[in-house]
Amino acid sequence: MLGNVPDYKLFKYNLHDRKSKSGINNSCNYPHKAVTIDVDGNCMICSCDGWLPISVCRIDDIETLDQIWNNPLAEKIQKDVDSKKFTWCSVDSCGIRKRDQIIKQHYVSVNVDESCNLACPSCRRSKIYRTDGEQFLARKKKTEHLLDLVNRFDKPIEIMMSGNGDPFASLIYRPLLLGMEPKENFNVRFLTNGLLLKKLMPKMKIKENIKYLDISIDAGDRKTYEKLRLGGKWDSLIENLNYVKQNMDSRVTLKFVLQRDNLASLDNFVALLEEYNFNGNIMPIEDWGVMPDFQSANIFSESHPDHPIMKKKLDQYRNHPLLFFHSI
Ligand SMILES: C[S@@+](CC[C@H](N)C(=O)[O-])C[C@H]1O[C@@H](n2cnc3c(N)ncnc32)[C@H](O)[C@@H]1O
Ligand code: SF4
Ligand code: SF4
Repeated sequence: MLGNVPDYKLFKYNLHDRKSKSGINNSCNYPHKAVTIDVDGNCMICSCDGWLPISVCRIDDIETLDQIWNNPLAEKIQKDVDSKKFTWCSVDSCGIRKRDQIIKQHYVSVNVDESCNLACPSCRRSKIYRTDGEQFLARKKKTEHLLDLVNRFDKPIEIMMSGNGDPFASLIYRPLLLGMEPKENFNVRFLTNGLLLKKLMPKMKIKENIKYLDISIDAGDRKTYEKLRLGGKWDSLIENLNYVKQNMDSRVTLKFVLQRDNLASLDNFVALLEEYNFNGNIMPIEDWGVMPDFQSANIFSESHPDHPIMKKKLDQYRNHPLLFFHSI
């Protein structure tokens, strides 16, 4: 199996025990239906490529989406998970110890490019935006191929983009964005900074298929927003939120990665949710190895001076009907 772990995933692979487990009686069908596709076209058959970082094939090498789940390596993993051995699974992270992991429709998480119009300090040290060159062309070719596979797939499916880069800003995602065809049993979930929604949505054919629209904003006021979403303008965000409110039927969630510099903005974030009647999702900041001093931003650490204020604030909003707390 080790030979099928992408090099950059070896660290994650080695973090967990990759031996046969016992005593887990819950069931999981992700290896039969889910895939996460990375920048090199590696296909990892779980909803999170960090949990099962084994590439069963490359997107360039297949002619139908079904081939992702129907090949010898995929079948080996499926057999292992079906028999509840979970040999290669990160069972302490993925939730299988606590509950079944069952999805009804196929699920494709597309993470094929890091390009973005912003440079949020929690995510990257400087702006990444590919517009040409060998890598750009190779990645674009992969997305064009993926587009063809997705448009020809006739079973119920959810497409999610993206966990890296911005699906609306990246020119590598653009063929998917503009070329995906509407059809029955086809749901799309976008995770985006939302700043290009108003510009690009009218050009897309799948507006009605966008079931979930997750917009990361990390703030409730101009000053905090323009600091933490570097390159983003508050007026542009509001313009796009207004567009969404007036033109879209998707379930909208505004996302907030809680850290030292936006704790004081939380009240305004909640006020914004109430004004638009959007859902809100608060998540802890993680160390992505890009912040010069992660510890000073990490108010989740009990030794951080702002930790008690954070706890009090979170308790205040714990039962708010529009708020959902992720891993907090
Ligand atoms: C990398 S972004 C890609 C999608 C899109 N560009 C966006 O911002 O929503 C995915 C999510 O990661 C979040 N994020 C960024 N830096 C983070 C960090 N250090 N810890 C946890 N989440 C982070 C973003 O706020 C966003 O919700
Ligand atoms: S058991 Fe966990 S790691 Fe394994 S496939 Fe299911 S969700 Fe993924
Ligand atoms: S908008 Fe998303 S991808 Fe872009 S820099 Fe910010 S968190 Fe990263």
